[in-house]
Amino acid sequence: TYVIAQPCVDVKDKACIDECPVDCIYEGERSLYIHPDECVDCAACEPVCPVEAIYYEDDVPGQWSAFTLANAEFFDDVGSPGGAAKMGLIAKDHPLVSALGPQAE
Ligand code: F3S
Ligand code: F3S
Repeated sequence: TYVIAQPCVDVKDKACIDECPVDCIYEGERSLYIHPDECVDCAACEPVCPVEAIYYEDDVPGQWSAFTLANAEFFDDVGSPGGAAKMGLIAKDHPLVSALGPQAE
């Protein structure tokens, strides 16, 4: 799977959403999250993020390694909706994201 890491927090550019062929990039309050069971590893989202928040799971920089599990855990109570568009904004964040201070300049 691909993973969205800390640079997305409070930025939420959303360029990635338009690239995903399976609509598996879901919006939380302060960040977006990739569904690990729905992502087909196409890599289309990774190059379009202007803040380089997206990484293949094996390439997540060490300081953001916890985001791999955070992306997965975001869906613990969401399940596998099979498409982000119909879900719209999901009014929560993973605790790892919620604990961060304001990130945007
Ligand atoms: Fe976030 Fe980058 Fe997508 S900022 S919403 S991961 S384009
Ligand atoms: Fe979607 Fe492909 Fe990224 S399936 S989340 S655009 S790797």
